[in-house]
Amino acid sequence: MPRASQLHLHCPAQSQYVAPVRHALTAFLEALEFERQSLEDITTAAGEALANIVEHAYVKGACPAECYFDLRASVNRRGRLCLDVCDGGLFLERAPLPGRGFGLRIIRAIAGELTIDTSSGTRVRMTFDCKK
Ligand SMILES: Nc1ncnc2c1ncn2[C@@H]1O[C@H](COP(=O)(O)OP(=O)(O)OP(=O)(O)O)[C@@H](O)[C@H]1O
Ligand SMILES: [Mg+2]
Repeated sequence: MPRASQLHLHCPAQSQYVAPVRHALTAFLEALEFERQSLEDITTAAGEALANIVEHAYVKGACPAECYFDLRASVNRRGRLCLDVCDGGLFLERAPLPGRGFGLRIIRAIAGELTIDTSSGTRVRMTFDCKK
């Protein structure tokens, strides 16, 4: 990988933005020549984190103008990707509904590391050590 690279997307927290953001992330990783399996893993994990924002982060009735998410992908020269998916909402600490509760487990299984910082909104940080 010749250079360190970054992608930053800032979008309304609405479901119609999830697929375009995943596609933009895919295109970014393709441009950096990530191998297909890494690319699918990363976009799957990102999709779960984005779905959680759309579904859980903002309580109904919150002003749409304040309901945004940010996705930041930073790749270093060794192919390590740090992916942050952030929102300004409230993390819901509760037992998952029946048959649910897989998203964070999927991310944990795929990513090298997962940290969730809820000190100001929610920041889901995933890291991936990727082959190219
Ligand atoms: N961005 C977020 N904002 C607020 N709460 C969140 C966020 N991400 C996750 N959570 C909380 O963590 C719980 C677990 O998330 P997880 O993705 O594992 O399961 P789920 O979304 O409930 O179900 P599934 O992903 O299987 O459809 C959620 O139910 C929710 O309470
Ligand atoms: Mg989920």
